[in-house]
Amino acid sequence: MKVKYKDRRNTNSKKWDSCYEKYGEKDLLPFWIADMDFEAPEAVKDALKEFVDFGVFGYFDPPKSYIESFITWESTYHNYQVKDEWIRFSPGVVPAINWLIQSLTKENNSILIMTPVYYPFKEAIVNNNRNLVENYLVEKNGKYIIDFDDFENKIIANEVKLFIFCSPHNPIGRVWTKSEIKTVMDICKKHKVYVISDEIHQDIIMSGNSQTPTATVGDYDNILVTLTAATKTFNLAACKNSFAIIPDEFIREKFDNFKQTIRINEGNSFGYIAIESAYNYGRPWLNKVLEIIENNYIEFKGLITKKLPLAKVFDLEGTYLGWVDLSAYLDDKESAGEFLKNNCNLAFDYGEWFSSERKYSKYFRINFATDTSNVILAAERIVEILGKRGK
Ligand SMILES: Cc1ncc(COP(=O)(O)O)c(C=O)c1O
Repeated sequence: MKVKYKDRRNTNSKKWDSCYEKYGEKDLLPFWIADMDFEAPEAVKDALKEFVDFGVFGYFDPPKSYIESFITWESTYHNYQVKDEWIRFSPGVVPAINWLIQSLTKENNSILIMTPVYYPFKEAIVNNNRNLVENYLVEKNGKYIIDFDDFENKIIANEVKLFIFCSPHNPIGRVWTKSEIKTVMDICKKHKVYVISDEIHQDIIMSGNSQTPTATVGDYDNILVTLTAATKTFNLAACKNSFAIIPDEFIREKFDNFKQTIRINEGNSFGYIAIESAYNYGRPWLNKVLEIIENNYIEFKGLITKKLPLAKVFDLEGTYLGWVDLSAYLDDKESAGEFLKNNCNLAFDYGEWFSSERKYSKYFRINFATDTSNVILAAERIVEILGKRGK
């Protein structure tokens, strides 16, 4: 199985071509937004070509076979038996998070997240005039764990109505264990807190780890909505079709009623075609991609920690996004992201974007879903510049 790396410069790639807009510098090597520099599986391209050759692009119903391909994927690779009537469309996981905030909570209600976390979570809360509550993950022996007491106390103190869970967790790369998920969910159930479980990275799992869908850990139907997609799994972000899984009739009705007010009920025909074919035929491609990502992470960690022994490259259990702490090499006022942009011409997600405080300004997030040569180049530039600081 071959996975092809593509030079995406001058193709309207956000990652490569919007770097200047985002960072204000030309010629940065980009490792920020979470998509891959790999061509989609051959079967996806073939299915799209066939559709293009047919040549009629009128109104289109979501194919039953598309829904079936997703149900089969969930059952085969996640042991999650999803029913057809639970599935709802949204053009992306982030839109669905915003819609669910509006469906399930009211203005000024408190919504909880575990920081550092994917920053559109906090933006969705703030933009919808809800109260942002943060449960900070705790770094212990080089690994992030959940402070369950703080989690429950924050729920009680703030009368939290909704928790947005990131599983696996972007940016710290944790794949939560069944027991961690169960503890979190039992607390939410006890306090009648709705949960959105964002599982968009569910298929990007490194060897030795095992992903558990939140819905399979216990009976949480009356508080839980799971969001997922083929977006990260098969590099199909442009397809704009994602899944909301809503087993509970009452929550579904709230979601459906909200959807009636915005009338966005189905996606784009190209997306349906691409995603169905990826779920049906893309597994060998995904296996190869997982190998490349894991190898890139190992290469990067090896090069960095060999020359910068006080740098922390956190274990990558899942996602293709690495989390790195450069505190030992930076001055008080320096931001890791800003420093690496200015001194190494590298564009990473800045640590400070991932919480409401500037708590993580000495950290950065690196996207490993690219050619190994790019990852090595980034590591070499970092080592060369920071190595001069002599620690
Ligand atoms: C945790 C998480 N959720 C959602 C998204 C984006 O989802 P979408 O493009 O479907 O809105 C990302 C992309 O990086 C992500 O990491």
